Amino acid sequence: MTRKPGTQWALILGASSGFGAAAARELSRHGYNILGVHLDRQATMPGVQKLIREIEANGRQTVFYNENAADEHKRHKIIDDFVERFHREGRAEVKVLMHSLAFGTLRPLVGRNEGEMIKKTQLEMTLDVMANSLVYWTQDMVRRDLLGRGSRIFAMTSDGANLNLPFYGAVSAAKAALESYIRQLAIELGPRGINCNAILAGVTETPALAKIPGARNMLYAAVAKNPFARATTPEDVAQAMIALLQPGTEFINGNTIGVDGGESKISYVGQKSPWQYADLNLLNESSWDPTDVS
Ligand SMILES: NC(=O)c1ccc[n+]([C@@H]2O[C@H](COP(=O)([O-])OP(=O)(O)OC[C@H]3O[C@@H](n4cnc5c(N)ncnc54)[C@H](O)[C@@H]3O)[C@@H](O)[C@H]2O)c1
Repeated sequence: MTRKPGTQWALILGASSGFGAAAARELSRHGYNILGVHLDRQATMPGVQKLIREIEANGRQTVFYNENAADEHKRHKIIDDFVERFHREGRAEVKVLMHSLAFGTLRPLVGRNEGEMIKKTQLEMTLDVMANSLVYWTQDMVRRDLLGRGSRIFAMTSDGANLNLPFYGAVSAAKAALESYIRQLAIELGPRGINCNAILAGVTETPALAKIPGARNMLYAAVAKNPFARATTPEDVAQAMIALLQPGTEFINGNTIGVDGGESKISYVGQKSPWQYADLNLLNESSWDPTDVS
């Protein structure tokens, strides 16, 4: 990848919190200016201002938009603005597009009664924000020549793409779609030298996680089964992105890459720590009967 200090930008959708904010910080330390899109209320804006100050303290430029990333008109306006201010003069290349939007309806698809049932508007909004918006931003960025040879696309997914949870039907569908879009974009953008991967993060303490019913239990189970005996952090993902931006990594393409310490490969069967089985020494017990679950 070409490295021209001061001219390379990362567009982060969901830049103000969680994975997006950690990536913004880490990318700015590695020479990227940050074009951030986020959706925050007044109460969380001081955190956004603090993040902007941190990025600028790393000597990088920031342009942050507090707008709905799924709104077509806002998307066009943000891209027009960027082209006008930076790209037209040949001063800017967008090397990273990160999709890290958390905005979904957590309801059963059918539920026990009509009151619980997810509505069409909620299902469509979840799919639109958490999956389809990746396609629309990519289309516009390619159309406007903002992504090109050496650019990388990352989309945040979770094991919810393959494992469902109560209330999680719409978000699970969005994650499955997001991973499929990444594979498809990898096919279509490879010839342009643009590389695409989904990053599957483990359960991570962020505002989005806190909104999921049973979040504390999810976190508990994740730590209990994680080989590293801790939850994933947004910084784990940011560091992995930096590694995936190194020259010579472009053949890592079209994948869903786990950045979860191995957590998603391990079943939860009530263990209290990843070592509990070793402590019990079950596998060496000649008397151990695997069919006895008493
Ligand atoms: N937290 C986890 O355990 C976990 C694990 C794996 C994957 N993920 C995925 O990572 C992504 C980011 O989640 P997070 O945990 O960092 O959440 P978060 O709540 O910390 O951050 C979400 C970001 O999205 C922005 N946002 C939400 N809706 C928006 C919209 N319509 N327009 C513009 N910005 C919008 C918010 O302002 C914020 O910046 C999500 O796709 C989530 O599903 C989360």
